This record gives sequence, C-alpha cells and structure tokens, in this order.
Amino acid sequence: MYKITAKRLLAPSIYLMDVAAPRVAKSANPGQFVIVKMDEKGERIPLTICDYDKIAGTVTIVFQTVGASTKKMALLAEGDYFSDFVGPLGQPSEFIEENIEELKQKKIIFVAGGVGAAPVYPQIKWLHEHGIAADAIVGCKSKDYLLLEKEIKAVAGKLYVATDDGSYGYQGFVTDLLKDLIEKEGQKYDLVIAIGPMIMMKFITLLTKQYGIKTIVSMNPVMVDGTGMCGGCRLTVGGETRFACVDGPEFDGHLVDFDEAMRRSTQYQTEEGRAEIERQE
Ligand code: FES
Repeated sequence: MYKITAKRLLAPSIYLMDVAAPRVAKSANPGQFVIVKMDEKGERIPLTICDYDKIAGTVTIVFQTVGASTKKMALLAEGDYFSDFVGPLGQPSEFIEENIEELKQKKIIFVAGGVGAAPVYPQIKWLHEHGIAADAIVGCKSKDYLLLEKEIKAVAGKLYVATDDGSYGYQGFVTDLLKDLIEKEGQKYDLVIAIGPMIMMKFITLLTKQYGIKTIVSMNPVMVDGTGMCGGCRLTVGGETRFACVDGPEFDGHLVDFDEAMRRSTQYQTEEGRAEIERQE
C-alpha cells in the first residue's frame, strides 16, 4: 500500500499528491511515469511524475479530474492509500544521457500546456541541478489555472506565461508566444520540448519544423498495462509502430502522426464517458 503523505489543490480540478513510494522515488528520472490504482478493482491510471524526493522516498503526482477514475481519486485524502503505484515506467528524457558540457551549449526551451507544467518541472529542475538554465513557456486558460509558477521560476532560466484570456502574462496560445520569441525577439533555440494536450504539441511541431528546431514531445495516449503488452498506447512515429509506455513517452515530435494519435484518444474519451455515466447511475 502506498500512503498519500500530502494533498493540495493546485487549480480548479487539478490536484497534487505526494505518495510514499521509496523504491519508485529511488529510481525515478525526469520524463518517466507511474501507473496507479486506488483499489484492487480500480482502473489503472497513468500519470507523469512531477517530482521525486529520493531521501524522503516520495513521488509527486499531479492530475486533473477528467473522468470517472480521476474524480474518484480526487476524493482521496492525506493518509489514504493507493493499492498500486507502479513505476518508474517508460524511458527517461533523452537529454539525461547527453554530454553535460555539450548540453550546456544548447539553448533549450520547454513549452507546457495546462497540466503539462507538471512533467516539465522535473526536467527543468534536473537541468538546473546540472548547471543548465532552460527557458520555459507555460500556457493555460487563465491565471487561476497556472500551475507550479513559483517552482518552475526557481529552476528555469526565463519563465514566460501565456493565458488564453490574457488574465496573466502574454495573451494568446503558447504557439503564438514561441513564434514571437523566435521571430520578434530573435531567440535561437536548439531544442524545444513540448508537453501538453496533443493538439498543442501538434501545432508546436508544425511551427518548429518551419525553423528546423529539434522538438521532443511527451505522448499521453490511452495506457492500460504500461508494459508494452496490450497495444493501447500504440502510436505511429516515423512510419513505424511504437508503444508510448515502453518506447516513450517522449518522441521526436516531427515524426509523430498526431492525427492518428488524436483519433485514437477520442475513442478513449467515449470509454471514459461511459465509465462516468456508470458512476453517476
Ligand atoms: Fe499497453 Fe503500452 S499501455 S502497450
């Protein structure tokens, strides 16, 4: 059993939880994820790791209540337990294998949309701990939905905020802001890492392709077993079939077939919808 040691509401319907899972915390790296289950019969919910404390043995997860299971999960309180907390799963971010001195020469910018700020944070933090100041754009609907501003600001080179309604920072989408930084401010990025809704990642990759900037995306398709056996998280990357859970979740964004991935995740929403209806009945 895995105890919830802290719980916090970050924004409307977005929660943060610290979970005691020493073995997961010990081997966690940025870019990886966990699969949690509330009880024996519960649905397996994949969640990206937002932070980890190898000494305290805790892993931080952030989730938004989007369906029946996550709504149920939001009812858990500090002191409650998950029956399963499996991880770390997936491949760590590719940059952690790179030569640090070479990485220091690169200008890196992260682009996070909505809850994507959660998985972006440990990556920027890891870079910061290795002497690399990456910039970040965090986009959300309005100021109330901005996540982890203080935490990201503390480890990023520069933090830019974009809100759809202009209630804070730049008014507009993260794609527009990135375009302005490149075109109007003459910023020359070597690497863009985009994490957020698939539609956002798709448009970021279309933009960066024009400038020839390498772009990594973190894919969040349907996941069931998380071990490459069920095929639920199947994607087409560079014309080949890849599984987000074992080959990813991060891929070269310019090679991902986003239209196919979005079609598949819409099918999943129907399943989620059914589960929600069953819950209410
Ligand atoms: Fe089953 Fe990836 S979640 S193959």
